[in-house]
Formats: sequence, C-alpha cells, structure tokens
Amino acid sequence: MTVNVSVTVNGMRHEISGVEPRLLLSDFLRDTLGLTGTHVGCEHGVCGACTVLMDGHSVRSCLTLAVQANGSEITTVEGLGTPETLNVLQTQFREHHGLQCGFCTPGMLMTGEDLLRKYPLATDEEIREGLSGNLCRCTGYQNIVAAIRSAAALRRENA
Ligand code: FES
Ligand code: FES
Repeated sequence: MTVNVSVTVNGMRHEISGVEPRLLLSDFLRDTLGLTGTHVGCEHGVCGACTVLMDGHSVRSCLTLAVQANGSEITTVEGLGTPETLNVLQTQFREHHGLQCGFCTPGMLMTGEDLLRKYPLATDEEIREGLSGNLCRCTGYQNIVAAIRSAAALRRENA
C-alpha cells in the first residue's frame, strides 16, 4: 500500500503519489524532492542535523514520517535564503565562523531560526539551551552561539 502526500515545501506545493507509509520525511525531502540541504547524521533523533520547520516548529525529519507531513508547510535550509541572498542568520554564521565542516549547519540554522522566531530576546544561556539537541563535532559551539546572538540583535534593529 502506498499513500499520497501533499505538502508545501519552501513555498512550493508538492502532490506526490506512491509514497511508502514508512518513508521518513528526511528521505522524502532528500530523495523524492531532491532537497539535499537537510542532512542526515544519526538517523535516530540524537544529532539534530536533519532539523526542519514543520508548520513553524522545528522537528527532526528523521523521526517524522513523510505521511505525517501531509497537509503541512515545511521549511528546509534551502528556504531560508539563496547563496546570493542569505538571510541574516546565515550571514551571521559566516561572519562569526559558526561552521567548519558544515555537516551540522543546516540543523543548527533551522533550530536557530525557530529559536529566534519564538524568542527574539534570547540570552546566551537560552540560545545554548535551545541548541542543546544539536550536536557539532567541530566548532565547540561558541561561534554558533555568537552567530545566533548577533542575528537576534540585527533582527531587532531591523524590526
Ligand atoms: S539525523 Fe535526525 S537527529 Fe540525527
Ligand atoms: S561544523 Fe562540523 S559538525 Fe558542526
């Protein structure tokens, strides 16, 4: 048995038939829709690399079935900005060297985006708490926190 999945991803509507009920949202995004910006690390909800926004809330796409996203609005890292027009969070990751290998970065950006939308006045402690479900092997987190803090300040200035 297969199912139909109707979902809006980064503002674009997709109606996909023949979806296996057990297909993970991460695989659906990467393999069915070709949106490989969402990374898959641990595949069991620990690393946060696969984080996307579903109806405005961050979710682990490796713990979500594609069919659970039916009718929802998904934002992936491709939906934040383009290489030519990065959003402020992305520019601040670049400015503050918030990445090294970049594997964790899509998940960090999506978690950071969720955090800043919900808590625009987040303190460093709250940023660290918000990122506690996202693992980074490279950076030691300091620059990631600095990038999110700076993006929060710039967003407030431009609000
Ligand atoms: S790949 Fe989903 S949490 Fe690690
Ligand atoms: S930058 Fe390499 S895992 Fe975070």
